[in-house]
Amino acid sequence: MVASITPSAHLADVRYEIRGALTRRARELEAAGLDIIKLNIGNPGRYGFEAPAHLREAIARHLHDSEAYGHEQGLEIARETIAAQQRARGARHVEPERIFIGNGVSELIDLSLRALLQPGDEVLLPSPDYPLWSAATILNGGQPRYYHCLASHDHQPDPDEIEALITPRTRALVLINPNNPTGAVYPRALLQRLVAIAARHRLLLLADEIYDEILYDGATFQPLAEVAGELPCLSFGGLSKVHRACGYRVGWMSLSGDPARTAAYRDALQLLAALRLCANVTAQWAVPPALQSAPTIGALTAPGGRLHEARRIVLEAVAASDYLELVAPDGALYAFPQVRADRFADFDDEAFALRLLEEESVLVVPGSSFNVPRSRHFRLTLLPPPAQLHEVFVRIERVLARMAHEQAQAPAAAVA
Ligand SMILES: Cc1ncc(COP(=O)(O)O)c(C=O)c1O
Repeated sequence: MVASITPSAHLADVRYEIRGALTRRARELEAAGLDIIKLNIGNPGRYGFEAPAHLREAIARHLHDSEAYGHEQGLEIARETIAAQQRARGARHVEPERIFIGNGVSELIDLSLRALLQPGDEVLLPSPDYPLWSAATILNGGQPRYYHCLASHDHQPDPDEIEALITPRTRALVLINPNNPTGAVYPRALLQRLVAIAARHRLLLLADEIYDEILYDGATFQPLAEVAGELPCLSFGGLSKVHRACGYRVGWMSLSGDPARTAAYRDALQLLAALRLCANVTAQWAVPPALQSAPTIGALTAPGGRLHEARRIVLEAVAASDYLELVAPDGALYAFPQVRADRFADFDDEAFALRLLEEESVLVVPGSSFNVPRSRHFRLTLLPPPAQLHEVFVRIERVLARMAHEQAQAPAAAVA
């Protein structure tokens, strides 16, 4: 018998279902010739969105300047631009030395936690979360402690619940705002309460703000760093979503607040950044034009814009549905509907998502993929053409009608 290679035990609790078993099944069905509508990944380039031309042109102009390793924290000119953006938002003490550019925010989430955690340290994470935050916490020896962001609460965190979860091992509070998967956008008053908690318990604030400018119907984004003031705060942003350039793999994090309190942590971040030499240099040239030119996302999120229309179709479809309800997303690229409790006594979100794929060729992500133990939700992206989203909800309704019919036929004991 051949001895198999055993993977690390660290991976035992690590999941990323957005590209998991359902997606693999969708690929099989595609290989068999089916046309699958994939709503599982927030990848604008796959749905016909383009990065602004001036980003592409900046990269092309600097192709020749991209052949050497760059600074471990990122190109100086790009970091200056990011620092200026953060200062203009009210973040304190942000200088290029406190900016780190990575191969997407994804790499930096891992780096930020690797530089912070001792084995057994706890990190406060939203549930539902963007699952990389949980995975990176676990992979770096930490323990997720989840605070709820329930639909019944408009998907807003409850500061009292968060404070009650804090123990002597708690090191950091993660906020995803605007939120993936819920689309919630947090008001300033809530952030002030959360900052006060972080101050009382000496927590590092980790603000995933990758959807910072993707806002609907007058919603406003409040950067956490401005509210945090002198409190240490690491804010994450990037080119993937707002600038529709996921494939460039450019993200950044900006350390704000009292430099004396974060000097050792900053040095740890720099060491980890240096160990991987540098981020992809080529695409970093797109950062200055992305942040210095007039914003381009507003044309898509304003009435008449494609994302706005997609969201409108989803809201209308849910309003007309016999089975669904939804807290309207105020930001980001997703809707997170749920199946009504009065229509299904018991609802298995994974079984539903599998049926939707097998029977109607639509791929969504079940709510339980976002570190929620039991969920009636599913997530879909707002990126497909609005007419296709309309068709998606016709198919969703068909599956739910079949499930309701089967439930009605089932013996009472099976439903209870
Ligand atoms: C909340 C959140 N954070 C981070 C990321 C990772 O983005 P990047 O492409 O910069 O790695 C995503 C991607 O979907 C996301 O939704």
